[in-house]
Amino acid sequence: MAVPLSWAQWLGYGPFLAQLVVTRRCNLSCGYCFEYDTVSDPVPFVTLDQRLGKLRDLRAWVVCLTGGEPTLHPDLLKLVRRMRELGFRRRQMITNGYRLTNETIEGLNAAGLTDLQLSLDGVRRNGTTLKVLHSLRGRLEMLARSARFRVVLSAVIGSAPPEEAIEVVRFARSHGFVPRVLLIHDELGRVKLSPEELAAYHEVKRILGRAGREAGDYRERLIQAGTAPFRCRAGARYLYVDEFGQVHWCSQSRELFSKDLMDYSLDDLKRQFHAVKPCREMCSIGCARTASAYDEWRRQGIEGRR
Ligand SMILES: C[S@@+](CC[C@H](N)C(=O)[O-])C[C@H]1O[C@@H](n2cnc3c(N)ncnc32)[C@H](O)[C@@H]1O
Repeated sequence: MAVPLSWAQWLGYGPFLAQLVVTRRCNLSCGYCFEYDTVSDPVPFVTLDQRLGKLRDLRAWVVCLTGGEPTLHPDLLKLVRRMRELGFRRRQMITNGYRLTNETIEGLNAAGLTDLQLSLDGVRRNGTTLKVLHSLRGRLEMLARSARFRVVLSAVIGSAPPEEAIEVVRFARSHGFVPRVLLIHDELGRVKLSPEELAAYHEVKRILGRAGREAGDYRERLIQAGTAPFRCRAGARYLYVDEFGQVHWCSQSRELFSKDLMDYSLDDLKRQFHAVKPCREMCSIGCARTASAYDEWRRQGIEGRR
């Protein structure tokens, strides 16, 4: 793409959210996760800088560093500073929180992080997850004291005894964090919950109120009907950029679509905006759902291409 997208082009087809994998390696190995390995090297800063420059040209509104585990990246603070220099409105990171120290939190404050999503699945360690209150309470209290950025605590229902998700939500509220819940999905992004997990989800939803009904309450539709079709705008409104710089629709559909970010153009955004995704009925990928919600009224498929 020779020139950056114009604002009008961005309004029509540009990315609201881009997630950038900075390293595939993770320090944990959660039993439900398909998004990490234990061996990869971090993506070099210069390469990530080029990718950020390209996302700036595509006018991505929000950029979120993810992985793997982004706090394993040796240039994390430099990356966040660069995101601010490039003018991204929101500069986010998703982390399991294990490596957060006071120094890192102060560094992230100074570098200009705006949002941190910390994954907290339950209260006690179990065979599936170590991302629990008992292990992370001290770091969470540090965050409550020192973070100048917004902190979202996000629990995956299905990874710990269901009643623990309710405790996580209460803990989040009492410490000034924003609570959020995800539903555990399989490698194709599909949800399957037990009756107890369902009951916990409904209790969490009751506590969260409006905030628990993202993107047309798709989770409830998935639970009630087993499907919740939508016009998925991934590849346009939402970009998942892997460690090789390939854009995918999301982390779970890496086999279905990929294109090098550095070659991405307005035409690609339009094509993917209109592409009808085969996984759209059972999808439980929150980022794809929320980034697509604004354009639900617009047509998709062949009749939508003007
Ligand atoms: C892949 S992790 C990467 C960032 C970081 N390592 C972490 O644990 O937050 C991103 C988010 O995806 C969630 N996740 C991973 N696999 C999932 C699954 N099968 N179902 C639901 N959420 C999942 C994680 O819990 C985490 O909140």
